[in-house]
Amino acid sequence: MKQNKKKVALIAGSQGVIGLNLIKHLSTQDDWEIIGLSRRGGVSTDKVRHIAVDLLDPKDTYQKLSGLSRVTHLFYTAYQDKPTWAELVEPNVSMLVNAVNAIEKVADKLQHISLMQGYKVYGAHLGPFKTPARETDGEHMPPEFNVDQQKFLEQCQQNKSWSWSAIRPSVVGGFGLGNPMNLAMVIAVYASMSKELGIPLRFPGKPGAYDKLLEMTDADLLAKATVWAATNPNCANQAFNINNGDLFRWNDMWPKFARYFEMEIAPPLPMLLNVIMADKEKLWNEMVEKHHLAPHTYQEVSSWIFGDFVFAWDYDMIADGSKARRFGFHEFVDTEKMFYDIFDDLRDRKVIP
Ligand SMILES: NC(=O)c1ccc[n+]([C@@H]2O[C@H](COP(=O)([O-])OP(=O)(O)OC[C@H]3O[C@@H](n4cnc5c(N)ncnc54)[C@H](OP(=O)(O)O)[C@@H]3O)[C@@H](O)[C@H]2O)c1
Repeated sequence: MKQNKKKVALIAGSQGVIGLNLIKHLSTQDDWEIIGLSRRGGVSTDKVRHIAVDLLDPKDTYQKLSGLSRVTHLFYTAYQDKPTWAELVEPNVSMLVNAVNAIEKVADKLQHISLMQGYKVYGAHLGPFKTPARETDGEHMPPEFNVDQQKFLEQCQQNKSWSWSAIRPSVVGGFGLGNPMNLAMVIAVYASMSKELGIPLRFPGKPGAYDKLLEMTDADLLAKATVWAATNPNCANQAFNINNGDLFRWNDMWPKFARYFEMEIAPPLPMLLNVIMADKEKLWNEMVEKHHLAPHTYQEVSSWIFGDFVFAWDYDMIADGSKARRFGFHEFVDTEKMFYDIFDDLRDRKVIP
């Protein structure tokens, strides 16, 4: 009887940096039942039921979601990585369309669909964009999958009883393995391997990126904000920038990282991590053995292309987070502490020495 009063969260992308941490947060709340969707699935527990499904396949999606009639909230955090901005559109829009169509068909108590976006909505990935970016800023030249996803959702919501929200984090900091976009992992593994080689820590990005303003979004803070927006009626059909609330520059942060890892810091040296780290699998495997690390493959801890992308931003990367605060979300995170907490967590899990 009590169980039926629970809200039922369906998280698409349950193994992602964002989805994984959203599930972790929801698991601490007594009023949620949790179902996760991903291709790889997962081991279900009394808190979380995992379903393996290919959201690119409409038939598989309909079939696997057909029994989920009690879902009240769809949290969409699935993502397909592709090499170009244009190639990202088709799979990422299709997966959302398939998930929404399948769940709408069976879940007659559906209240909300939450869409995970990012600063790409503002053209942040293309070059120096207007900062701080605001939710009301005008559109830019397509292709951009986040924009197309939101348009689909807005269109689909017409005359429906459910509402949507769109959440726009900066670069997300949180635990995850085998994710294409995991900046904390990039820094932790790059620093650990530099230390293993006995060389000082050097910022590998573009010269102009070292002193630009930047912000991050802690995955746990993001989870709280996502659930807040999905469950507050005044947030219905709104987009929100969500970030930690402080700004930093790499020229201040990298010496701190060096202190954390007990390394010397040296001046930046521009290099493409995806190229320079390509031959380091053997070194990683040796480190796993020498330091008795958990047996994660080099691929599982490598997001070098994403590192190169972020460290090439020789322009400010900031968005105004005040709309969320005006609407009632007041949490914040100290970004420096966030990095140390993630590095500590990676050490506790024996992912890095
Ligand atoms: N990470 C960041 O720093 C960041 C920052 C800002 C915005 N964002 C945005 O947030 C969203 C989520 O990003 P993320 O970094 O959390 O992604 P991620 O770590 O790559 O996770 C993606 C999730 O989607 C699942 N997935 C992929 N293809 C699937 C398919 N065909 N069927 C079912 N599940 C599928 C993956 O699991 P399987 O591989 O097992 O299927 C995984 O659980 C993206 O739109 C991204 O642009 C991310």
